[in-house]
Amino acid sequence: MISLIVGTNRPGSNSARIARQVAELYAELGEPLNVIDLGHFPADAFSPGAYASRSAAVATASDAVVQSRGLVIIVPEYNGSYSGALKHFIDLLPFPSAFERRPVAFIGLAAGEWGGLRPVEHLQGVFGYRNAHIYPERVFIPGIYQLIGADGRLNDEKLVTRLRRQAAGFLGFVRSLPPAPSIDRTGVCSWSLQPASPSELLERLSGTGVRALQLHLDPLSENPATWGETARLCAQRGIRLLSGMMTTVGEDYSTLDTIKVTGGVVPDSTWDENWRNFQANARIAVDLGLKLVTLHAGFLPHEESDPSFAKLMDRIARTADLFAGLGLDIAFETGQEDAPTLRHFLQKLNRANVGVNFDPANMLLYDKGDPITAVHTLAPWIKQVHLKDANRTAQPGTWGEEVVVGTGQVDWAGFMRALRDIDFRGNFCLEREAGAQRVVDLAAGRKYIAELKY
Ligand SMILES: Cc1cc2nc3c(=O)[nH]c(=O)nc-3n(C[C@H](O)[C@H](O)[C@H](O)COP(=O)(O)O)c2cc1C
Repeated sequence: MISLIVGTNRPGSNSARIARQVAELYAELGEPLNVIDLGHFPADAFSPGAYASRSAAVATASDAVVQSRGLVIIVPEYNGSYSGALKHFIDLLPFPSAFERRPVAFIGLAAGEWGGLRPVEHLQGVFGYRNAHIYPERVFIPGIYQLIGADGRLNDEKLVTRLRRQAAGFLGFVRSLPPAPSIDRTGVCSWSLQPASPSELLERLSGTGVRALQLHLDPLSENPATWGETARLCAQRGIRLLSGMMTTVGEDYSTLDTIKVTGGVVPDSTWDENWRNFQANARIAVDLGLKLVTLHAGFLPHEESDPSFAKLMDRIARTADLFAGLGLDIAFETGQEDAPTLRHFLQKLNRANVGVNFDPANMLLYDKGDPITAVHTLAPWIKQVHLKDANRTAQPGTWGEEVVVGTGQVDWAGFMRALRDIDFRGNFCLEREAGAQRVVDLAAGRKYIAELKY
């Protein structure tokens, strides 16, 4: 989604008129705009109390900005600069996620002959400070009162052509860049919220401030009477489904030793049941319109000479081909083996639809190496990232401790820099597997990541 901000709240604004025309140009290019018109905000949006508690209109607009792939700003010239209302709105938006690496295009307008050059350049200073990606082709509309017809439309064909060219160029610019690292790529792992029903899931999700999910698929296949409504309820509330997750039968996470023999596709005794469940979950993923399903494959052997290497390879290849046949990718969680072992296994497997769900905390919990080095080792395979934190164990052979994102030993700034270096373009899913206040913890994790500087 691309959002357009009408940069004034003046009644009868020419900027709002130009905005309608610009929205038509984007719609013609197949990209309908979400228009945020400051003139539609209630008075309390501009009261001193607005900094502490945002009105519903500001909260909705703010979420739209943070979820936008790009922003178009139409800014009128007021006293040689931009309007106070626009600056006030900018100051209410979350720092740094609102503009950090977000593409932005500017259109200036003015009664005078400079066509809004001054407010656009002043805004470029603000957006440059906030690390936005500024689209270089700006459009200036001078003598606005002469150029707007009685129908409220810009009647200068040259300027309309320039606006159309800017729209096409900006769309190319937006598509060439990775999405901003903010909420539009972030979901919550549904199982972290321990819901008993889809309505409970969505109620708890709303407390985290996140509007997307990685969905645990097993409840949908095992209990359709309760969970069959999930997709409809999510669509109704505008909650996006980023990916699915499935578990394997009989996993026992009590200790590192128990999970080693019970986890993933390793045990022979549960393979037939796992295979049936994979087939059911794959069909559900297709029905939900998902593209990616993640799972724990189990502890992969280090040596190819290990007798279980070929057996696991065969089971995983069958699973990969089942999903590939339905147009789905699968991704294994990191952590149960070190990154070079996982990479070797993936190279041997040689399936384009198989990758990694990178979980930096798992690498600490299982004590399997440095997450930042592992990002580079596994770069071509990383399809999704889990935002989870942990402290390494002090006692080798036992679990580390899972903690709230931002309070453990994951070097988040370094980790995010590594993902930026490899040009990671997938989604992030907040996960919390311990503790009794999941909603509060996930909200804290979301805030930490949104405010992280790197
Ligand atoms: C408070 C105010 C200050 C203005 N200052 C300037 C100015 O410095 N230079 C200029 O060319 N036009 C100036 N104008 C004229 C506006 O650019 C023109 O009215 C334009 O339509 C404003 O956009 P709007 O209709 O969306 O509010 C000013 C208008 C207002 C309301």
